[in-house]
Amino acid sequence: MKLKKMLVGCLCMMAMASCGEGNQNVKNETTMEEEKNAVIENIMARRSIRKYKNEVVSREVLDQIMECGINAPNGQNKQSWEVRVVDNSQVMAEICNTLNAAYPKMENAAGCFRGAPVMVFIARDKGYDFSAYDCGLMAENMMLSAQSLGVGSICLGSPVRMINDNPACAPILERLGFSEGYEFCLCVGLGYPDETPAAKPRDKGKVKYVE
Ligand SMILES: Cc1cc2nc3c(=O)[nH]c(=O)nc-3n(C[C@H](O)[C@H](O)[C@H](O)COP(=O)(O)O)c2cc1C
Repeated sequence: MKLKKMLVGCLCMMAMASCGEGNQNVKNETTMEEEKNAVIENIMARRSIRKYKNEVVSREVLDQIMECGINAPNGQNKQSWEVRVVDNSQVMAEICNTLNAAYPKMENAAGCFRGAPVMVFIARDKGYDFSAYDCGLMAENMMLSAQSLGVGSICLGSPVRMINDNPACAPILERLGFSEGYEFCLCVGLGYPDETPAAKPRDKGKVKYVE
């Protein structure tokens, strides 16, 4: 009798557990659906920001964005990038002053940073042919995670040309201290947005299905 009671108890517990599992699966599917939409909404809402609030982005938030950045897909997991985050306004001012001095004929060379309070300088491993893609994917992960945290962003190529092409900018590269064999290739500006630009048109005709 005692054994029969125990068996019934066990069966009940197994049935409850499997019921729970079933519910869990339904719940997971719903959550995945919601997450998928949230990701798509985030992608579609991101825009390049060129006007920022004078508001500090905390190291905690920046760490999260950087963590997302380095979790980007990358060739052979070589992580063929180096990242320098400048969130100190004094250091950024030094960099801007050097850039302005290197381009005396320009009214505001440092305007190429678009006034973002945090500047992420990215360098690629020159010895790896796919490193530019790795860096681009990392930058996109940074910008999308920033977007999801309410932080605006902009990908910047012009500072790269201006800094790499002018020997008078060498002190900037020295300050950033990338390792030997790495080449500065991209910037990502971050900060709290003070504008909400509309989406620029995209040409869907560039995408074709091969039937
Ligand atoms: C590789 C790359 C370089 C870019 N360089 C600059 C730049 O130097 N200055 C700038 O204002 N925007 C720059 N952008 C931002 C683009 O202008 C912007 O992404 C594009 O116009 C589409 O607008 P959206 O980002 O708001 O969708 C760059 C973007 C990429 C991906």
